[in-house]
Amino acid sequence: MEIQAPRGTYDILPPESRKWQYIERVIKETAERFGYSEVRFPIFEHTELFERGVGDTTDIVTKEMYTFIDKGGRSVTLRPEGTASCTRALIEHSIYSGPLPVKWYYNGPMFRYDRPAAGRYRQFHQFGVELFGSNNPYADVEVIQLLVKILENLGLKDYELHLNSVGCPQCRERYREKLVEHITPVKDQLCPDCQSRYAKNPLRVIDCKNPGCLEAIVGFPVLYDSLCDDCRQHYNTVQEGLTGQGIAYLHDNQLVRGLDYYTNTAFEIHLPQFGAASAVGGGGRYNGLVRFCGGPDLPGIGFAIGMERLLSAVERTGIDWEKDDLQVFVLVPDEHNRNIGLEICNILREAGVRTDQDYNGRSMKAQMKQANKRGARLVVIVGEDELAAGQFTIRDMVHKTQLTVPKEALLDRVKEILQ
Ligand code: HAM
Repeated sequence: MEIQAPRGTYDILPPESRKWQYIERVIKETAERFGYSEVRFPIFEHTELFERGVGDTTDIVTKEMYTFIDKGGRSVTLRPEGTASCTRALIEHSIYSGPLPVKWYYNGPMFRYDRPAAGRYRQFHQFGVELFGSNNPYADVEVIQLLVKILENLGLKDYELHLNSVGCPQCRERYREKLVEHITPVKDQLCPDCQSRYAKNPLRVIDCKNPGCLEAIVGFPVLYDSLCDDCRQHYNTVQEGLTGQGIAYLHDNQLVRGLDYYTNTAFEIHLPQFGAASAVGGGGRYNGLVRFCGGPDLPGIGFAIGMERLLSAVERTGIDWEKDDLQVFVLVPDEHNRNIGLEICNILREAGVRTDQDYNGRSMKAQMKQANKRGARLVVIVGEDELAAGQFTIRDMVHKTQLTVPKEALLDRVKEILQ
Protein backbone atom coordinates (compact mmCIF):
# COMPACT_ATOMS: atom_id res chain seq x y z
CA MET A 1 0.00 0.00 0.00
CA GLU A 2 1.28 3.43 -0.92
CA ILE A 3 0.94 5.75 2.06
CA GLN A 4 -0.19 9.26 1.17
CA ALA A 5 -0.67 12.44 3.20
CA PRO A 6 -4.09 12.45 4.94
CA ARG A 7 -6.99 14.09 3.08
CA GLY A 8 -7.07 17.84 3.57
CA THR A 9 -3.33 18.06 4.32
CA TYR A 10 -0.41 18.65 1.97
CA ASP A 11 3.37 19.02 1.85
CA ILE A 12 5.14 22.31 1.28
CA LEU A 13 8.19 21.47 -0.81
CA PRO A 14 10.92 23.69 -2.25
CA PRO A 15 10.65 25.97 -4.17
CA GLU A 16 7.09 26.44 -2.78
CA SER A 17 8.51 26.76 0.75
CA ARG A 18 10.41 29.88 -0.35
CA LYS A 19 7.11 31.55 -1.17
CA TRP A 20 5.88 30.74 2.32
CA GLN A 21 9.05 32.14 3.86
CA TYR A 22 8.63 35.30 1.82
CA ILE A 23 5.04 36.00 2.85
CA GLU A 24 5.76 35.05 6.46
CA ARG A 25 8.71 37.46 6.51
CA VAL A 26 6.67 40.37 5.11
CA ILE A 27 3.84 39.72 7.57
CA LYS A 28 6.08 39.36 10.63
CA GLU A 29 8.04 42.49 9.76
CA THR A 30 4.79 44.44 9.37
CA ALA A 31 3.43 43.16 12.71
CA GLU A 32 6.72 43.91 14.50
CA ARG A 33 6.55 47.49 13.19
CA PHE A 34 3.11 47.75 14.80
CA GLY A 35 4.62 46.71 18.16
CA TYR A 36 3.64 43.01 18.24
CA SER A 37 5.89 40.22 19.60
CA GLU A 38 5.74 36.55 18.72
CA VAL A 39 4.07 34.02 21.01
CA ARG A 40 4.24 30.24 20.50
CA PHE A 41 1.79 27.91 22.20
CA PRO A 42 1.06 24.16 22.03
CA ILE A 43 -0.43 22.47 18.98
CA PHE A 44 -2.88 20.68 21.32
CA GLU A 45 -4.75 21.90 24.37
CA HIS A 46 -7.31 20.50 26.80
CA THR A 47 -10.57 20.13 24.85
CA GLU A 48 -12.41 22.18 27.45
CA LEU A 49 -10.48 25.32 26.46
CA PHE A 50 -12.03 25.36 22.98
CA GLU A 51 -15.47 24.19 24.17
CA ARG A 52 -15.57 27.16 26.52
CA GLY A 53 -13.56 29.69 24.54
CA VAL A 54 -14.82 29.16 21.01
CA GLY A 55 -18.35 28.17 22.09
CA ASP A 56 -20.21 24.88 22.25
CA THR A 57 -22.79 25.75 19.57
CA THR A 58 -20.22 26.77 16.96
CA ASP A 59 -19.44 24.64 13.89
CA ILE A 60 -15.85 24.38 15.08
CA VAL A 61 -16.77 22.78 18.40
CA THR A 62 -19.77 20.71 17.29
CA LYS A 63 -18.33 19.30 14.08
CA GLU A 64 -14.77 20.23 13.28
CA MET A 65 -12.43 19.50 16.18
CA TYR A 66 -9.73 16.85 16.09
CA THR A 67 -10.35 15.55 19.59
CA PHE A 68 -8.87 12.41 21.11
CA ILE A 69 -8.27 10.77 24.47
CA ASP A 70 -4.55 10.59 25.24
CA LYS A 71 -2.82 7.70 27.01
CA GLY A 72 -3.49 9.38 30.35
CA GLY A 73 -7.25 9.35 29.70
CA ARG A 74 -7.48 13.15 29.11
CA SER A 75 -9.46 14.67 26.28
CA VAL A 76 -7.19 16.84 24.15
CA THR A 77 -7.82 18.72 20.89
CA LEU A 78 -5.56 19.85 18.05
CA ARG A 79 -5.90 23.64 18.05
CA PRO A 80 -8.60 24.80 15.59
CA GLU A 81 -7.62 28.48 16.12
CA GLY A 82 -5.28 30.62 18.23
CA THR A 83 -7.33 33.12 20.24
CA ALA A 84 -8.37 30.66 22.96
CA SER A 85 -4.77 29.46 23.42
CA CYS A 86 -3.44 33.05 23.64
CA THR A 87 -6.08 33.81 26.25
CA ARG A 88 -5.13 30.70 28.23
CA ALA A 89 -1.42 31.61 28.08
CA LEU A 90 -2.14 35.23 29.11
CA ILE A 91 -4.01 34.03 32.19
CA GLU A 92 -1.67 31.13 33.06
CA HIS A 93 1.41 33.40 33.09
CA SER A 94 -0.39 36.44 34.62
CA ILE A 95 0.78 38.56 31.68
CA TYR A 96 -2.15 40.87 32.35
CA SER A 97 -0.45 42.22 35.50
CA GLY A 98 2.39 43.70 33.36
CA PRO A 99 2.20 46.68 31.00
CA LEU A 100 -0.96 46.89 28.86
CA PRO A 101 -1.91 46.46 26.14
CA VAL A 102 -0.27 43.12 25.42
CA LYS A 103 0.33 42.74 21.66
CA TRP A 104 1.04 39.21 20.45
CA TYR A 105 1.30 37.52 17.08
CA TYR A 106 1.48 33.84 16.14
CA ASN A 107 1.92 31.79 13.02
CA GLY A 108 1.38 28.07 12.55
CA PRO A 109 -0.85 25.13 11.70
CA MET A 110 -4.47 24.87 12.81
CA PHE A 111 -6.76 21.85 12.43
CA ARG A 112 -10.43 21.65 11.49
CA TYR A 113 -12.24 18.54 10.32
CA ASP A 114 -14.26 19.87 7.40
CA ARG A 115 -14.94 18.68 3.86
CA PRO A 116 -11.81 19.66 1.92
CA ALA A 117 -12.48 22.05 -0.98
CA ALA A 118 -10.68 24.84 -2.82
CA GLY A 119 -9.10 27.01 -0.12
CA ARG A 120 -10.34 24.71 2.68
CA TYR A 121 -8.02 22.23 4.36
CA ARG A 122 -8.00 20.07 7.46
CA GLN A 123 -4.54 21.27 8.42
CA PHE A 124 -4.16 24.89 7.38
CA HIS A 125 -2.01 27.78 8.57
CA GLN A 126 -2.97 30.99 10.28
CA PHE A 127 -1.07 34.14 11.07
CA GLY A 128 -2.92 35.87 13.89
CA VAL A 129 -2.57 38.82 16.24
CA GLU A 130 -4.22 39.46 19.61
CA LEU A 131 -4.25 42.75 21.51
CA PHE A 132 -5.28 42.41 25.17
CA GLY A 133 -6.04 45.19 27.62
CA SER A 134 -7.61 48.07 25.70
CA ASN A 135 -11.21 48.81 24.83
CA ASN A 136 -10.31 52.00 22.99
CA PRO A 137 -12.02 52.03 19.55
CA TYR A 138 -8.75 53.31 18.10
CA ALA A 139 -7.17 50.00 19.12
CA ASP A 140 -9.78 48.41 16.80
CA VAL A 141 -8.79 50.84 14.06
CA GLU A 142 -5.09 50.03 14.50
CA VAL A 143 -5.69 46.26 14.44
CA ILE A 144 -7.73 46.56 11.23
CA GLN A 145 -5.09 48.88 9.79
CA LEU A 146 -2.45 46.20 10.44
CA LEU A 147 -4.51 43.62 8.55
CA VAL A 148 -4.93 45.98 5.60
CA LYS A 149 -1.24 46.96 5.68
CA ILE A 150 -0.19 43.30 5.53
CA LEU A 151 -2.25 42.80 2.36
CA GLU A 152 -0.89 45.99 0.83
CA ASN A 153 2.72 45.10 1.66
CA LEU A 154 2.15 41.86 -0.25
CA GLY A 155 0.88 43.77 -3.27
CA LEU A 156 -2.84 42.96 -2.82
CA LYS A 157 -5.30 45.68 -3.75
CA ASP A 158 -8.63 44.12 -4.74
CA TYR A 159 -9.86 43.26 -1.25
CA GLU A 160 -13.08 44.20 0.53
CA LEU A 161 -13.14 44.99 4.23
CA HIS A 162 -16.49 44.01 5.78
CA LEU A 163 -17.39 45.52 9.12
CA ASN A 164 -20.17 45.09 11.67
CA SER A 165 -20.77 45.32 15.39
CA VAL A 166 -22.17 42.31 17.25
CA GLY A 167 -22.66 44.44 20.39
CA CYS A 168 -22.31 43.41 24.03
CA PRO A 169 -24.15 40.46 25.65
CA GLN A 170 -27.08 42.77 26.57
CA CYS A 171 -27.48 44.07 22.99
CA ARG A 172 -27.21 40.54 21.70
CA GLU A 173 -29.85 39.17 24.06
CA ARG A 174 -32.26 41.89 22.87
CA TYR A 175 -31.35 41.07 19.31
CA ARG A 176 -31.67 37.30 19.88
CA GLU A 177 -35.25 37.75 20.99
CA LYS A 178 -36.13 39.82 17.91
CA LEU A 179 -34.40 37.37 15.62
CA VAL A 180 -36.05 34.29 17.14
CA GLU A 181 -39.42 36.02 16.75
CA HIS A 182 -38.61 36.61 13.07
CA ILE A 183 -37.31 33.08 12.44
CA THR A 184 -39.88 30.98 14.35
CA PRO A 185 -42.65 31.17 11.69
CA VAL A 186 -40.24 29.97 8.98
CA LYS A 187 -38.17 27.56 11.03
CA ASP A 188 -39.33 24.51 9.03
CA GLN A 189 -37.64 25.93 5.93
CA LEU A 190 -34.22 25.99 7.63
CA CYS A 191 -31.49 23.35 7.23
CA PRO A 192 -31.37 20.69 10.00
CA ASP A 193 -28.39 22.40 11.70
CA CYS A 194 -30.18 25.76 11.87
CA GLN A 195 -33.42 24.15 13.06
CA SER A 196 -31.63 22.64 16.03
CA ARG A 197 -29.60 25.73 17.00
CA TYR A 198 -31.73 28.73 16.04
CA ALA A 199 -33.44 29.12 19.41
CA LYS A 200 -30.16 29.07 21.35
CA ASN A 201 -27.96 30.84 18.83
CA PRO A 202 -30.02 32.42 16.00
CA LEU A 203 -26.97 34.39 14.77
CA ARG A 204 -25.72 31.10 13.32
CA VAL A 205 -28.69 31.19 10.90
CA ILE A 206 -27.54 34.54 9.48
CA ASP A 207 -24.08 33.05 9.12
CA CYS A 208 -25.27 29.73 7.59
CA LYS A 209 -23.54 28.77 4.34
CA ASN A 210 -26.78 27.16 3.09
CA PRO A 211 -28.42 29.78 0.79
CA GLY A 212 -31.92 28.38 1.57
CA CYS A 213 -31.62 29.52 5.19
CA LEU A 214 -30.90 33.13 4.25
CA GLU A 215 -33.78 33.13 1.75
CA ALA A 216 -36.13 31.84 4.46
CA ILE A 217 -35.24 34.67 6.87
CA VAL A 218 -35.18 37.47 4.28
CA GLY A 219 -35.81 40.89 5.85
CA PHE A 220 -34.32 39.76 9.17
CA PRO A 221 -33.84 42.49 11.81
CA VAL A 222 -30.35 44.02 11.78
CA LEU A 223 -28.03 44.00 14.77
CA TYR A 224 -27.12 47.67 14.51
CA ASP A 225 -30.71 48.63 15.47
CA SER A 226 -30.37 46.66 18.74
CA LEU A 227 -27.06 48.20 19.86
CA CYS A 228 -27.05 50.01 23.23
CA ASP A 229 -25.68 53.59 23.34
CA ASP A 230 -22.16 52.53 24.39
CA CYS A 231 -21.85 49.86 21.68
CA ARG A 232 -23.26 52.19 19.05
CA GLN A 233 -20.81 54.92 20.10
CA HIS A 234 -17.92 52.46 19.98
CA TYR A 235 -18.88 51.28 16.51
CA ASN A 236 -19.36 54.82 15.19
CA THR A 237 -15.92 55.83 16.49
CA VAL A 238 -14.32 52.81 14.82
CA GLN A 239 -15.95 53.81 11.54
CA GLU A 240 -14.77 57.41 11.94
CA GLY A 241 -11.25 56.19 12.70
CA LEU A 242 -11.15 53.96 9.61
CA THR A 243 -12.41 56.78 7.44
CA GLY A 244 -9.83 59.11 9.03
CA GLN A 245 -7.10 56.63 8.10
CA GLY A 246 -8.38 56.34 4.54
CA ILE A 247 -9.41 52.70 4.99
CA ALA A 248 -12.49 51.83 2.91
CA TYR A 249 -15.00 49.38 4.41
CA LEU A 250 -18.49 48.00 3.84
CA HIS A 251 -20.95 47.90 6.72
CA ASP A 252 -22.25 44.30 6.51
CA ASN A 253 -25.36 43.36 8.55
CA GLN A 254 -24.79 39.72 7.75
CA LEU A 255 -21.32 39.60 9.26
CA VAL A 256 -21.69 37.91 12.66
CA ARG A 257 -18.58 35.61 12.59
CA GLY A 258 -18.67 31.92 13.36
CA LEU A 259 -17.11 31.96 16.84
CA ASP A 260 -19.00 32.78 20.04
CA TYR A 261 -16.50 35.02 21.81
CA TYR A 262 -17.01 38.15 19.73
CA THR A 263 -18.37 41.42 21.15
CA ASN A 264 -18.63 44.78 19.38
CA THR A 265 -16.42 45.17 16.31
CA ALA A 266 -16.35 42.23 13.88
CA PHE A 267 -14.55 42.30 10.52
CA GLU A 268 -13.51 40.15 7.61
CA ILE A 269 -11.33 40.68 4.58
CA HIS A 270 -12.71 39.18 1.38
CA LEU A 271 -11.10 38.62 -1.98
CA PRO A 272 -14.24 38.30 -4.12
CA GLN A 273 -12.39 36.45 -6.91
CA PHE A 274 -12.09 33.42 -4.58
CA GLY A 275 -15.81 32.60 -4.42
CA ALA A 276 -16.81 30.38 -1.49
CA ALA A 277 -13.36 30.64 0.14
CA SER A 278 -13.18 34.43 -0.29
CA ALA A 279 -12.54 35.21 3.41
CA VAL A 280 -8.78 35.57 3.61
CA GLY A 281 -8.89 36.81 7.18
CA GLY A 282 -11.26 37.73 9.95
CA GLY A 283 -11.44 38.84 13.52
CA GLY A 284 -13.00 41.13 16.05
CA ARG A 285 -13.29 42.19 19.64
CA TYR A 286 -13.80 39.63 22.43
CA ASN A 287 -14.25 41.64 25.62
CA GLY A 288 -15.69 38.79 27.72
CA LEU A 289 -13.30 36.00 26.78
CA VAL A 290 -10.48 36.52 29.29
CA ARG A 291 -12.91 36.60 32.21
CA PHE A 292 -14.89 33.68 30.80
CA CYS A 293 -11.69 31.61 30.71
CA GLY A 294 -10.96 32.37 34.37
CA GLY A 295 -8.90 35.58 34.13
CA PRO A 296 -9.60 39.22 35.01
CA ASP A 297 -12.08 41.42 33.17
CA LEU A 298 -9.74 42.33 30.32
CA PRO A 299 -10.89 43.33 26.83
CA GLY A 300 -9.26 41.96 23.69
CA ILE A 301 -9.29 42.22 19.90
CA GLY A 302 -7.50 40.39 17.11
CA PHE A 303 -7.64 38.68 13.75
CA ALA A 304 -6.28 35.70 11.88
CA ILE A 305 -5.30 35.37 8.24
CA GLY A 306 -5.66 32.07 6.34
CA MET A 307 -2.16 31.68 4.91
CA GLU A 308 -3.11 29.28 2.08
CA ARG A 309 -5.71 31.72 0.79
CA LEU A 310 -3.31 34.62 1.19
CA LEU A 311 -0.55 32.82 -0.71
CA SER A 312 -2.79 32.00 -3.68
CA ALA A 313 -3.95 35.62 -3.77
CA VAL A 314 -0.34 36.85 -3.78
CA GLU A 315 0.45 34.29 -6.50
CA ARG A 316 -2.32 35.79 -8.66
CA THR A 317 -0.70 39.23 -8.56
CA GLY A 318 1.97 37.75 -10.86
CA ILE A 319 4.69 38.34 -8.26
CA ASP A 320 8.25 37.52 -9.34
CA TRP A 321 9.21 34.91 -6.73
CA GLU A 322 12.61 34.42 -8.36
CA LYS A 323 13.98 37.53 -6.77
CA ASP A 324 13.88 35.53 -3.58
CA ASP A 325 15.58 32.43 -5.01
CA LEU A 326 19.18 31.26 -5.37
CA GLN A 327 21.56 34.20 -5.86
CA VAL A 328 24.82 32.59 -6.93
CA PHE A 329 25.61 29.25 -8.54
CA VAL A 330 29.27 28.23 -8.33
CA LEU A 331 30.17 26.36 -11.51
CA VAL A 332 33.15 23.98 -11.25
CA PRO A 333 34.02 22.42 -14.64
CA ASP A 334 36.74 20.12 -13.25
CA GLU A 335 35.80 17.78 -10.43
CA HIS A 336 39.26 18.03 -8.78
CA ASN A 337 38.57 21.75 -8.12
CA ARG A 338 35.38 20.96 -6.17
CA ASN A 339 37.05 21.89 -2.86
CA ILE A 340 37.86 25.38 -4.16
CA GLY A 341 34.23 25.61 -5.29
CA LEU A 342 33.12 24.81 -1.76
CA GLU A 343 35.51 27.45 -0.38
CA ILE A 344 33.93 30.09 -2.69
CA CYS A 345 30.47 28.92 -1.64
CA ASN A 346 31.43 29.39 1.99
CA ILE A 347 32.90 32.88 1.47
CA LEU A 348 29.66 33.97 -0.21
CA ARG A 349 27.38 32.17 2.27
CA GLU A 350 29.21 33.75 5.23
CA ALA A 351 28.45 37.13 3.65
CA GLY A 352 24.72 36.25 3.51
CA VAL A 353 24.55 35.38 -0.21
CA ARG A 354 22.33 32.37 -1.09
CA THR A 355 24.84 30.16 -2.88
CA ASP A 356 24.99 26.59 -4.14
CA GLN A 357 27.05 24.33 -6.41
CA ASP A 358 26.62 21.00 -8.21
CA TYR A 359 27.31 17.66 -6.55
CA ASN A 360 26.25 15.36 -9.40
CA GLY A 361 29.32 15.53 -11.64
CA ARG A 362 27.44 17.38 -14.41
CA SER A 363 29.20 18.75 -17.48
CA MET A 364 29.87 22.50 -17.68
CA LYS A 365 26.89 22.93 -20.03
CA ALA A 366 24.62 20.93 -17.73
CA GLN A 367 25.78 22.96 -14.70
CA MET A 368 24.95 26.18 -16.57
CA LYS A 369 21.47 24.79 -17.30
CA GLN A 370 21.14 23.84 -13.63
CA ALA A 371 22.05 27.41 -12.58
CA ASN A 372 19.38 28.74 -14.91
CA LYS A 373 16.75 26.35 -13.62
CA ARG A 374 17.54 27.31 -10.02
CA GLY A 375 16.97 30.97 -10.89
CA ALA A 376 20.55 31.99 -9.98
CA ARG A 377 21.22 35.66 -10.67
CA LEU A 378 24.98 35.09 -11.03
CA VAL A 379 27.26 32.19 -11.87
CA VAL A 380 30.83 32.18 -10.54
CA ILE A 381 33.00 29.99 -12.77
CA VAL A 382 35.91 28.23 -11.06
CA GLY A 383 37.75 27.37 -14.30
CA GLU A 384 41.21 25.82 -14.62
CA ASP A 385 42.73 28.74 -16.60
CA GLU A 386 41.23 31.38 -14.34
CA LEU A 387 42.48 29.56 -11.23
CA ALA A 388 46.01 29.50 -12.66
CA ALA A 389 45.79 33.31 -12.94
CA GLY A 390 44.21 33.64 -9.45
CA GLN A 391 40.92 34.83 -10.98
CA PHE A 392 37.23 33.93 -11.25
CA THR A 393 34.65 34.67 -13.91
CA ILE A 394 31.31 36.12 -12.85
CA ARG A 395 28.46 35.60 -15.32
CA ASP A 396 25.40 37.84 -15.00
CA MET A 397 22.48 35.57 -15.98
CA VAL A 398 20.06 38.46 -16.45
CA HIS A 399 22.17 40.78 -18.60
CA LYS A 400 24.09 37.92 -20.25
CA THR A 401 27.45 39.61 -19.60
CA GLN A 402 30.56 38.38 -17.84
CA LEU A 403 33.69 39.74 -16.21
CA THR A 404 36.81 38.31 -14.64
CA VAL A 405 37.95 39.42 -11.16
CA PRO A 406 40.81 38.52 -8.82
CA LYS A 407 39.86 36.34 -5.82
CA GLU A 408 40.18 39.25 -3.33
CA ALA A 409 37.63 41.31 -5.28
CA LEU A 410 35.13 38.48 -5.87
CA LEU A 411 32.88 39.01 -2.84
CA ASP A 412 32.66 42.81 -3.27
CA ARG A 413 31.81 42.53 -6.99
CA VAL A 414 29.16 39.84 -6.33
CA LYS A 415 27.54 41.98 -3.63
CA GLU A 416 27.71 45.06 -5.82
CA ILE A 417 25.92 43.33 -8.70
CA LEU A 418 23.31 41.73 -6.44
CA GLN A 419 22.43 45.10 -4.98
P1 HAM B 1 -11.70 32.32 11.48
O1 HAM B 1 -12.54 33.24 10.69
O2 HAM B 1 -12.31 31.05 11.93
O3 HAM B 1 -11.19 33.16 12.73
O4 HAM B 1 -10.38 31.99 10.67
C1 HAM B 1 -9.56 33.01 10.13
C2 HAM B 1 -9.15 32.66 8.72
O5 HAM B 1 -8.56 31.35 8.67
C3 HAM B 1 -10.31 32.57 7.72
O6 HAM B 1 -10.67 33.85 7.24
C4 HAM B 1 -9.71 31.70 6.62
O7 HAM B 1 -8.93 32.48 5.73
C5 HAM B 1 -8.78 30.78 7.39
N1 HAM B 1 -9.40 29.43 7.53
C6 HAM B 1 -10.31 29.04 8.42
N2 HAM B 1 -10.63 27.73 8.24
C7 HAM B 1 -9.87 27.29 7.21
C8 HAM B 1 -9.71 26.04 6.54
N3 HAM B 1 -10.38 24.95 6.92
N4 HAM B 1 -8.83 25.96 5.50
C9 HAM B 1 -8.12 27.05 5.12
N5 HAM B 1 -8.22 28.26 5.72
C10 HAM B 1 -9.08 28.39 6.74
C11 HAM B 1 -10.40 32.67 13.72
O8 HAM B 1 -9.82 31.61 13.66
C12 HAM B 1 -10.23 33.63 14.88
N6 HAM B 1 -9.39 32.99 15.90
C13 HAM B 1 -9.63 34.94 14.41
C14 HAM B 1 -9.45 35.91 15.54
C15 HAM B 1 -8.28 36.21 16.18
N7 HAM B 1 -10.40 36.62 16.10
C16 HAM B 1 -9.89 37.35 17.07
N8 HAM B 1 -8.62 37.09 17.14
